[in-house]
Parts: sequence; C-alpha cells; structure tokens
Amino acid sequence: MRDDPAPPRNHSLFTRLSHAGRAGTHVHGFVNPGVSRGSTVLHPDVAHRSATRHKTLEQALVYGLDGTPTHWPLEDVVAEIEGGTRCQIVSTGLAAITTPLLAYLGAGEHVLMPDSVYGPTRQFCDHMLARMGVATTYYPPEIDAAGLSALIRPETRVLFLESPGSHTFEMQDVPALAAAAHARRVTVLLDNTWGIHFFQPFRHGVDVSIQALTKYVVGHSDVLLGGIVTASDSAWERVRRTALQLGQYASPDDCWLALRGVRTMAVRLERQMASGLEVARWFAGRAEVLAVLHPALPGAPGHDLWKRDFTGAPSLFGVVFRPEFSVAATHAMVEALELFGIGAYWGGYESLALPTTGFISRSAGTGDFGGPMVRFHVGLEDPADLIDDLERGFAVMRGFAG
Ligand SMILES: Cc1ncc(COP(=O)(O)O)c(C=O)c1O
Repeated sequence: MRDDPAPPRNHSLFTRLSHAGRAGTHVHGFVNPGVSRGSTVLHPDVAHRSATRHKTLEQALVYGLDGTPTHWPLEDVVAEIEGGTRCQIVSTGLAAITTPLLAYLGAGEHVLMPDSVYGPTRQFCDHMLARMGVATTYYPPEIDAAGLSALIRPETRVLFLESPGSHTFEMQDVPALAAAAHARRVTVLLDNTWGIHFFQPFRHGVDVSIQALTKYVVGHSDVLLGGIVTASDSAWERVRRTALQLGQYASPDDCWLALRGVRTMAVRLERQMASGLEVARWFAGRAEVLAVLHPALPGAPGHDLWKRDFTGAPSLFGVVFRPEFSVAATHAMVEALELFGIGAYWGGYESLALPTTGFISRSAGTGDFGGPMVRFHVGLEDPADLIDDLERGFAVMRGFAG
C-alpha cells in the first residue's frame, strides 16, 4: 500500500509532524491527500481478487474496511507521534480502549485496572468483560511494582495503565509496573491520551498505546476518533485482526480532519501547556483552593514521576476546593464563567470547566479528595482573560449561600 519509505525519526517533533505520513500521498502534486471514500475495491480479474485476499494483513485490500488512502497517512503520523511500529485507526477513543482489551482477553482470564481509569473503560470491564467471563481487579493507581506483582494471578493477561488518571490525575510509575508485568508475561496497555507526544510509551515498556485522537490530535472539538499504536508488528496484527472482526471503521472525512489537526498539534500544545500552567499556578495561589491536580506543577502530586518521564504536559488538570465551599457553590462558580464552557470533551481550542464530584467511581480507594472538585481544560484563549473570568467566578462562589 505504502511504497515510499517513512521519513527518518531523528528530526524534532515539529519537523516530523509536518512531514510524517506524506510519502506517496501526493496526487497531482497537492500537498494533502484527498478524501478517499470507498466501500468497494475493484480488481482487474477474479484471480487478482483471490490473490489479494490471501495477502498479508497489511497488503490485503479488498474492501473499504481494510482502510483507504486517507486512513494510512493518519496511521503513519499517529505511529510516529507515539514512537511505535504501526497504528490502527478506530471509530472513537473508547473503541481504541475496548479493541485491544478484546484482542488480549478471553473467558476465564483476568485484567488489572487502575482505580482512577476513565469511567467508560470501567463500565466496559464491569459489564461487557464480566459477561464474557473476564475478571477485573482495580488496583490503587499509585501502587508500586511489588504491590502489583502480588495482584498478578496465573490467568492475568493484561495490565492496563492510565497515567495520570482520569479526573484525579494520579501518576503511575509506568516503567516499574510494566517491568513487573512483563516478568510474569502480562501484556501492558496504556491509555496515553493525556501523555500524547510528551510521553513516549514504548521507551517505558508499554506494548500497546491508546490515543483518543478526539482530543489534541483533532484539536477542534468536531470529530471522535481513536488510534491504537503497538510496540511490535505482531501486536499490531493481533489488534488489527480484532478491529476488523469487530467491524471497526472510521470515516475518511474524519480521518482527513484529524490529519489536518495533527499538523498544528505541537504548536497548539506548546501554547496550551504554557497557558494551562499559568492558570494552574493562579489556582495554586488562591486561598479557596485546597489542591491543584496538575502533575507538571512543582509540588503537585506525582510531579516527580512527571519530571522523570514526561517532556511536557497538556492543559487538562483538576482543582480541589476547600471543604467550606459546597458542591453547589462550585457549580455556581462554573456557571458564572463566560469563557469556560461546561463540557466533557478536552483537547480542543476552547476552555472548559467540568464539576467532577459525584462522577468518580472508586473501588480500591476512598475517592475522598478533601473537597469539591472541578476539572479545567485551558484552550487557546489569552490566559489573562481566563484568569479575569475565574476571578469573577470565584466572587460568585464566595458569595454563594445555599
Ligand atoms: C483519558 C481518556 N481516554 C479515552 C477517552 C475516550 O475518547 P472518545 O471520547 O474519543 O471516545 C477519553 C474521553 O474523554 C479520555 O478522557
């Protein structure tokens, strides 16, 4: 399918994001590939079709489900960002989680999940995997290698990681946990959506890395898409086979939008990281705030691991308010903001605030963080304007009687 070699990997990320996935895609010289929509693939004769069907997974192109010339460049760019061998594009970030779980787990087997995992991942384990006869153990996300080893059973097949955790931002010691898993032949899956290009999963022992491309890759709050990147070709084949069996597909129009988004991602992230940290520092200096859950903020929980393993951070973090403020008071504050939308998505160009108290499920820990919590996503707005807006919101929260 892709006859031209990929560009070398020794350039900086900015260069690679401009060039990756473009080899062999130029039609009539245009820089970007067109949108190839297609279900039927025509063959010159029956023998050609039969021969194509029996080619390797990579080369067999007999139907739209196998991908199109719009999917392949995106797969190449996402594999490049993550530093893996190959990528499989699927319909959503959630599908990028469930597909490899199904690829590696079967009846009678066992998966280890961090207690801070993204809520729909937990629901998939508690419902779909449970119905299939797969057992899940939730472990404290900050567990060490010895603690994790003690939880591994003969039937454990997958260690799932998400670092930092959804909503509560606990950092995990990925290399130590991955080594403990590998010592017992357990496959390591990581939801690397927050880490994006700031965390290189395959240098830290991960076998399969998951990206909700919906977030910073798409970057414009208008498409859902997932990417599964693997450390080896054999892992990719296993994941791809499962994706095809599930009928996983992503619209070429959406892939094209993601490809367009990814070209500017490093610039957006650089700006959003700086603005996010500026706003996080402002929160940390406020008397109303008990804790800022931003791993890149010095002094925040997990900062040492972040400093050891990450080269940067996106602009999504949590704020815990002092317990004298009620959940209702934090809701009034969020509703008073003019520049922050109330929404669950993140990674787009616009800022968001989402109250999270009451939306956090825990089974291996207390889930009590000391006060009401709000998750903030900082977009491309001027951070000074965002802070002015937050000042207004804080005044409403302080004056809230209810
Ligand atoms: C950490 C994480 N992983 C995966 C997803 C799922 O992505 P999608 O919305 O594309 O299904 C999300 C969405 O919020 C997320 O926050």
